[in-house]
Amino acid sequence: MRIILIGYGIVGQGLTQILMRRRHEVIRDFGLNPKIVAIVDRRGAAVNAKGLDLEKVFLVRKAKGTVAAYPECGRLGASPTSVMELVEAEVMVEATSTNVKTGEPGLSNIKTAFKTGKHVVTTNKGPLALALPALTELANYNKVYLRFSGTVGGGTPVLELAKKCLEGDKMLRIRGILNGTTNYILTQMAEERVTFEQALESAQKLGYAETDPSMDVDGIDPACKVVIMANWIMNKKLTLKDVSIQGIRGLTPGMLEEAAKRGNTIKLIGSVDDKAAVKPTEISKHDPLCVSGVLNAVTFESEFAGAETIIGRGAGGMETASAVLRDLLDIKHNLSDKLLNL
Ligand SMILES: NC(=O)c1ccc[n+]([C@@H]2O[C@H](COP(=O)([O-])OP(=O)(O)OC[C@H]3O[C@@H](n4cnc5c(N)ncnc54)[C@H](OP(=O)(O)O)[C@@H]3O)[C@@H](O)[C@H]2O)c1
Repeated sequence: MRIILIGYGIVGQGLTQILMRRRHEVIRDFGLNPKIVAIVDRRGAAVNAKGLDLEKVFLVRKAKGTVAAYPECGRLGASPTSVMELVEAEVMVEATSTNVKTGEPGLSNIKTAFKTGKHVVTTNKGPLALALPALTELANYNKVYLRFSGTVGGGTPVLELAKKCLEGDKMLRIRGILNGTTNYILTQMAEERVTFEQALESAQKLGYAETDPSMDVDGIDPACKVVIMANWIMNKKLTLKDVSIQGIRGLTPGMLEEAAKRGNTIKLIGSVDDKAAVKPTEISKHDPLCVSGVLNAVTFESEFAGAETIIGRGAGGMETASAVLRDLLDIKHNLSDKLLNL
């Protein structure tokens, strides 16, 4: 499997590290021989049709700030589009920065990959939140697979649990804590009785929150995940504009104290049933969803299996990269089944 990797930040580098570490087991146990034939960052690309030396790419990028400085294989100024058009590969892994206003550069990267006959694995929520129904159609039209396990729950197999393990059952409702940063802030506010601003500052000091925390605290990040789950698991053709979104900026320690008197707490819950929403919601402290710190938790309510809750870390470079590897294996299995006409 020849792979073009676009985006060589925390997730992209995590993926190359996992592939270096697990290469022999992946070949032996799954018959998958992944070969990274190009890596692209903002300043250019490194390309080698025979497969890049991943250790060397890492060292070059560390020393020179771009993969394009790779000796002989470096292409300074090469764009993701030009690389996808020129380099033969089966799969494009999209791990560029998220933009929920335009979806770019991920949206164009995914469309170009489809047009050039490549399957796509993305960890970038932006293009999916804005255009998942259209992208699914485009993938089908071009007869390629689109996978995105790392976009919800990081390494925790949230999408797979619902899609594969509950296959055949009818999903009635999904509710979850889909953002670790806001869950950390709410946990701090409830347990340490600090204000929203103090808890946010502590999250920023620990590296859980960005300098501009609005994607998290205004509920946009969990709303993207609601869109992805609604489309993938419940077959609802939603985009971000269909989600009613309320963040956690208005919450006070007093509100959390009042909830505590009733044996409850307040969590930022993303949900989808007839409607899709993200809003601060009072839930029982005994609800399996009531996890603390940066943990994520999602409850699936299906017609026959009832309620199932999955809990996990939700993000992290290596965790998310491990979801990319699962998606690559899923594509490999699907292609093998097709060859066998299963
Ligand atoms: N980190 C996590 O825990 C996590 C978890 C789940 C999902 N995600 C998602 O996964 C994606 C990658 O995350 P990350 O943490 O790896 O981000 P990151 O460290 O900021 O890396 C982003 C990478 O994308 C590259 N890039 C951005 N714009 C580009 C363009 N126009 N052309 C070519 N390359 C471009 C950057 O290039 P330069 O290096 O040259 O700047 C960088 O290598 C994001 O969409 C993120 O939301 C991340």
